[in-house]
Amino acid sequence: MDPAAKLLAVLASVAVAYALTLPKRRRSLGRRGAKPPAPLPADFPVTPAKVLAASKRVAPHVHRTPVLTCGCLDAAAGRRLHFKCEVLQKTGSFKVRGATNAALLLEDAASPLVTHSSGNHAQAIALAAKLLGRDAHVVMPDTAPAVKRAAVAGYGAHITLCAPTNAARAEAAAAKCAEVGGSFVHPSDDPDVIAGQGSVAVEFLEQAPFLDALIVPVGGGGLVSGIAVYAKGLRPDLKIIGAEPALVDDAARSKAAGARLGFATGDVVPDTLADGLKTLLGDNTWPVVRDLVDDIITVDEAEIADATKLVWGRMKLCIEPSAGAGVAAATGAAFRARYPPDAYPNVGVVLCGGNLDLAKAAKTLFAEAG
Ligand SMILES: Cc1ncc(COP(=O)(O)O)c(C=O)c1O
Repeated sequence: MDPAAKLLAVLASVAVAYALTLPKRRRSLGRRGAKPPAPLPADFPVTPAKVLAASKRVAPHVHRTPVLTCGCLDAAAGRRLHFKCEVLQKTGSFKVRGATNAALLLEDAASPLVTHSSGNHAQAIALAAKLLGRDAHVVMPDTAPAVKRAAVAGYGAHITLCAPTNAARAEAAAAKCAEVGGSFVHPSDDPDVIAGQGSVAVEFLEQAPFLDALIVPVGGGGLVSGIAVYAKGLRPDLKIIGAEPALVDDAARSKAAGARLGFATGDVVPDTLADGLKTLLGDNTWPVVRDLVDDIITVDEAEIADATKLVWGRMKLCIEPSAGAGVAAATGAAFRARYPPDAYPNVGVVLCGGNLDLAKAAKTLFAEAG
């Protein structure tokens, strides 16, 4: 073969070899060239260092939850999913992380903890107070299910019932703080709560450092904010995706509009199976969602129900529908189209909680099974 033909043959084989590795190369080039996330304001109260410190602070009080995988869920998603099982956390949700961090940081070590919540944050504050030998007062809407009231009371917290509106809750909590000299801990917008929730990411990225994307259910945004602040500091290339019920899509609409949006109905937010995700973004969580969260995927009620049942059936984990929203996003068409499996083969999903009324779930989620 003459030298020119030889050179051409070598160049052709190099081109074929290069083409065969393209998906991998695109990924690693994308990583190296990843655009640094837009910075939060310099005085933003949550930083990667604060999340790391929170993680160390709460570690003696919470479970380091396992990361599990499941072949059936991988098949549904078309890639490898890694589930951070906060459903197995103390109180049945990640909420105990933020509540414990906030309680440990309160300056007045003796003052009672006060909050308003109808669900998981209420239990988390009640347990955090018990662990630290403090009193807890929880304002709950009078519509809160009996099982939730019983769980909060079971941890020894005092319950005050109020009308089921945000205004009534805030008013009753402020009155309770004044009455007992208490310290109010907001469920999702308190910076120390956000930092505590970020400890999920500290553990997750130690347990699965190879993740390409992380899917996190979004309500008030405390969980996704703590995770995003820490993860983007450590791994700017890691995609952080929020999962939200289509019926309560304030984060998706806000992100698309570049401005925080609520609902025309104000205080009255539509009902969704994923009741932990009914809350709206706050003053501290919106800037993080705007600047550090890459995308929000919305899922409808049928998708949430199906994903929740899939995890119950295949993983034998009794997750609540708020966690099912993240699974629905991970297995859904929108995520697959926007984040193709060959470019994002390893995806983390936070199974954020497992508190639900089993009798009611049997009627709603499993109704058609008769
Ligand atoms: C199980 C569960 N998942 C997710 C969320 C949403 O968390 P955040 O309000 O921090 O976004 C909540 C909030 O109550 C919850 O209880």
